[in-house]
Amino acid sequence: MDSVSLAKKNAAEKAVEFVKDGDLVGLGTGSTAEWAIKKLGELVKEGLDIQGVPSSKAIDALAQKVDLPLIPYEEFIRDELALNIDIDGADCVDPDFNLIKGGGGAHTREKRVANASEMFYCVVDEKKLVDKLAGSFPLPVEVMPEDLDEAVRGLRTYGFVKQRQKDGKLFISDNANYILDVSLNVGEPVKGLEVDINNIPGVVDNGLFTIRRPDAVIVGRLNGEVTINNG
Ligand code: 5RP
Repeated sequence: MDSVSLAKKNAAEKAVEFVKDGDLVGLGTGSTAEWAIKKLGELVKEGLDIQGVPSSKAIDALAQKVDLPLIPYEEFIRDELALNIDIDGADCVDPDFNLIKGGGGAHTREKRVANASEMFYCVVDEKKLVDKLAGSFPLPVEVMPEDLDEAVRGLRTYGFVKQRQKDGKLFISDNANYILDVSLNVGEPVKGLEVDINNIPGVVDNGLFTIRRPDAVIVGRLNGEVTINNG
């Protein structure tokens, strides 16, 4: 395994150590969070008693494959469930624990899950740590297809806008929406931007996590070490 993948695995498995019997666990999306889900599957086989809430259809499928007891995302929303802990990755993390997420296009559901969680552990390899969010990773913005043009016009205030594609086709989110990736030209701080962008007509949610920030960022280092940074 290469050093970045190992760093992701080490960070995710460290976060799993904070999961306790009886917990309702938010299951993040992405290659880092997947390590946590696989580890939780192993622990459930050994007797850990938890239920997971998947933040995407892909993670729902993985969790079912490893026999993790699940509460479907739709049930979590309908019943307004409170979760004990959420383990999720990020595309970049600034020194104040503001995040950009949504590289996998799942940030809307990921944010709902993080907002409902008492503890939010963000798990990353050290390459995700940045001084400034703007310019480090294009900001994913989920938009409703019928409002695409209006959303693009509104988002151009904040930077270059590109509609996401996958395998030569338009990317469609789990919520049946489009994703626009915005190369932010706004500078820092990005405080306030999360709300401002969500106020553009047609925008469902954006990948800034500046309001619900992680309680801890667990960083897998390329030398194999893991550091836990508490907020
Ligand atoms: C998905 C996400 C992921 O957490 C983010 O893209 C990081 O992914 P990875 O762990 O594969 O680097 O926000 O929407």
